Amino acid sequence: MSDSFDQAYWDDRYGAGDDVWSGAPNPVLVGETLALPAGSALDIGCGEGADAIWLAARGWNVTAADFSAVALEHAAARSRTAGADPTESAAIAERIRWEQHDFTVWAPPAGTFDLVSAQFMHLPSGPRTALFRALAAAVAAGGTLLIVGHDVSAWQHQGHTPPADMFFTAAEVAASLDPALWQVEVAESRPRAAKDADGAVVSLTDAVVRARRR
Ligand SMILES: C[S@@+](CC[C@H](N)C(=O)[O-])C[C@H]1O[C@@H](n2cnc3c(N)ncnc32)[C@H](O)[C@@H]1O
Repeated sequence: MSDSFDQAYWDDRYGAGDDVWSGAPNPVLVGETLALPAGSALDIGCGEGADAIWLAARGWNVTAADFSAVALEHAAARSRTAGADPTESAAIAERIRWEQHDFTVWAPPAGTFDLVSAQFMHLPSGPRTALFRALAAAVAAGGTLLIVGHDVSAWQHQGHTPPADMFFTAAEVAASLDPALWQVEVAESRPRAAKDADGAVVSLTDAVVRARRR
């Protein structure tokens, strides 16, 4: 993979001082999973943990994985104060397992999770295809796969320009799911307003795939 997006890059970014992300859960995760009953969840590329914490606060037992030790430390610390009071914070923290893995060499256990969520987990196409296949395999029968990322049309974000090979479309992810095993419930390019690093409102396009394992 590109040297500029390796573990050292992400550790430096997460260790630079300010939070990298907003601290709020990804809006697409919230919208697409709100109606699901709590169960076991895998959050892939959890970063500073906002999604994992939101899920745990809703009763999910979450495995949250990332290769950045710095991000995982920040996320775990944040989870311990995430509730309205110490009791709720302890309950949230207890429901999350933070795991350090490099997704180019690790795959989650097959058939395990009621929800597998990958939010903006961008890798070059070769390892990304292998990872998304492993994520699909990790979903238990009746469970949900949610993959969200910058659509291939979104070249610019956060001040740098990743190679187009890092991006994907919802259509290509949906096409990789065997219809005998999956019901694709959502597969679309979805525009979204967001703020850039300077606070200016920008228009982004997310690739959103939600599928249920039969
Ligand atoms: C764009 S961030 C998304 C973070 C979080 N999901 C969110 O939406 O706020 C991508 C995350 O993937 C992690 N990551 C990138 N490549 C990885 C790899 N090969 N193995 C494990 N984690 C990786 C980074 O450390 C980073 O936290």
